[in-house]
Amino acid sequence: TRKVTTHRFIEMKQRGEKISMLTSYDFTTAGIVDGAGVDGILVGDSASNVMAGNSTTLPMTVEQMIYHARSVVRGVKRALVVCDMPFGSYQVDRKEGVKNAIKIMKESGCDALKLEGGSEILDTVKGILDAGIPVMAHLGLTPQSINKFGTYAVRAKEDAEAEKLLADARLLDEAGCFGLVLEKVPAGLAAMVTKEIKMPTIGIGAGNGTDGQILVVDDMLGMTKGFSPRFLRRYADLNSVMTDAIGQYIMDVKSSDFPNEKESY
Ligand code: KIV
Ligand code: NA
Repeated sequence: TRKVTTHRFIEMKQRGEKISMLTSYDFTTAGIVDGAGVDGILVGDSASNVMAGNSTTLPMTVEQMIYHARSVVRGVKRALVVCDMPFGSYQVDRKEGVKNAIKIMKESGCDALKLEGGSEILDTVKGILDAGIPVMAHLGLTPQSINKFGTYAVRAKEDAEAEKLLADARLLDEAGCFGLVLEKVPAGLAAMVTKEIKMPTIGIGAGNGTDGQILVVDDMLGMTKGFSPRFLRRYADLNSVMTDAIGQYIMDVKSSDFPNEKESY
């Protein structure tokens, strides 16, 4: 199995072949996701919510992202592994952003990095690209800015924000990013941006006109509860599967059915 590269992502867009992405945060899950044949795996800072139980992505640190990304890299043979740069690790200035980017690449072994934002971080994005590190951009509902937005509602419904999003997408495309995540924006806008730029767009809550899709793996497998945005399609109910299995185990322990003779030494 040949490793998926950032060049392959761009080729897939040119060929009109849709790109499938999911998140992963650990070795075991990443092995299953990669084995199923997904094109790209994002080590998302959504680990803050899904793994650590925080209400936002803001607490995530560089060291924690490296731990998750290194674990995922060990489990992956084929998929492109992209790691989120956490809040605070690239917003100060270009020098600090490049330094943290290099640290994450070196210590995790991932293939590329993802940063949230447009013109505000363009200089830092260019610095990271100049260091030879592929960058995936992220526009729309960027969760690291949730305190600025004040709501998880769909972004860029108004003309001014939609125009800024398109302008940012163009800047990041010209800078040489290899992909762009569009999160929770109108489908029409996402489709228009997709046509205007060379790099592939990966949507989450951005309609069917993007070049690919991404979901948080724990959400699409139905492990997480109480999170039901309209863009989320649940492909399994692992929460029930796990609860039933654990309930059975508890019954077997209580009834002394487990372990039996074959399960003993
Ligand atoms: O952290 C994450 O899971 C993400 C995706 C939702 C795009 O950034
Ligand atoms: Na993220």
